[in-house]
Amino acid sequence: MLLFSLNPDAQSMMTGLVVRLRAWFGVDGLNIRMPDRKIKEKLNVSVIGAGRLGIVLARALNAQGYHIKSLVARRLRNARKAAALLDDKPKTFAASQIRFLPQADLFLICVPDDQIASVAIELSKLRLDGEPLAFHTSGALSSDVLSILKEQGWSVGSLHPLISVSGPDAPINGAFWCVEGDRRAMRSGKALVKALGGTSFSIPPAEKPLYHAAAVMTSGNVVALFDVALEMLVQSGLTRNLARQILQPLLASTVRSLETKDPAQALTGTFSRGDVETVKRHLAALKHHKLTDALEAYRLLGKRSLKLTKDHPHITRILKSV
Ligand SMILES: NC(=O)c1ccc[n+]([C@@H]2O[C@H](COP(=O)([O-])OP(=O)(O)OC[C@H]3O[C@@H](n4cnc5c(N)ncnc54)[C@H](OP(=O)(O)O)[C@@H]3O)[C@@H](O)[C@H]2O)c1
Repeated sequence: MLLFSLNPDAQSMMTGLVVRLRAWFGVDGLNIRMPDRKIKEKLNVSVIGAGRLGIVLARALNAQGYHIKSLVARRLRNARKAAALLDDKPKTFAASQIRFLPQADLFLICVPDDQIASVAIELSKLRLDGEPLAFHTSGALSSDVLSILKEQGWSVGSLHPLISVSGPDAPINGAFWCVEGDRRAMRSGKALVKALGGTSFSIPPAEKPLYHAAAVMTSGNVVALFDVALEMLVQSGLTRNLARQILQPLLASTVRSLETKDPAQALTGTFSRGDVETVKRHLAALKHHKLTDALEAYRLLGKRSLKLTKDHPHITRILKSV
């Protein structure tokens, strides 16, 4: 309250003090509740990779008062398209122009995993004041991939939101984030996650590939499995649109069960009941329609379902014989 009632000179002194504190302590003050918007605007962020996650992060940070200073995409026109979605009007750059990026406190690297190392090389050519901070958002890689920046005095880390972002309006609030990096990056990363309404957790960096494969199992592979189910329903005579629609409540009720129950308790259906003849009918139908992906997935996941239930040796034998 006192700060709001200060005269302009005193406010400017406070601004200078906060800027100096930030210079001394790095950008760890990202989570400091800034006394006025003028100071908050000084938290400059550069987002490299204006794709699905980059644009959602830029928008979420923008909404929290962070200033998105620059936005980079491989192609300039894509950076411009993304910039149009932000309240800030960031400067836009193509991948080939990274060496011209302006000063920023925080660089968020949201490019495909295979591009992160080359982006780090480009960033290392910048001549910046202070100790900039860089995070990449890959789930599979640790911050080691940013070591070229670390060698130049940057703080580096990785911040991976455990959510599926398929468009610019995807909500990010409530996500769990895997945070890893040097000490300063850890502190700042956790503060950033908190500001975005998320919760941080950590795993040993060497286990990130396994961790990320689990994320793929839960998201990308579930989408692929859903696509297999759509293919089956289309073969049974439904349109793809109707098939997608009618599967929604089934999928949603399964997800709801998993929110509160372990898989062994959440499993329902043929395998949990041990309906031998039904399994035979399923397999015959899949073979008849020559649905090879579906047959393979059914067999593999059926075996896993059996591990969750009481023993049904007859079904196990049937699945093995396919
Ligand atoms: N999407 C998700 O659900 C999600 C969730 C968690 C973590 N992540 C992680 O976030 C990162 C980005 O994933 P995404 O799904 O957002 O990818 P994406 O939609 O394919 O977007 C990638 C962006 O990076 C740009 N880009 C590619 N190469 C570049 C380079 N060398 N320099 C600068 N920009 C470059 C692309 O530009 P153009 O548009 O011009 O091609 C595009 O804007 C990945 O590490 C991924 O693992 C994604």
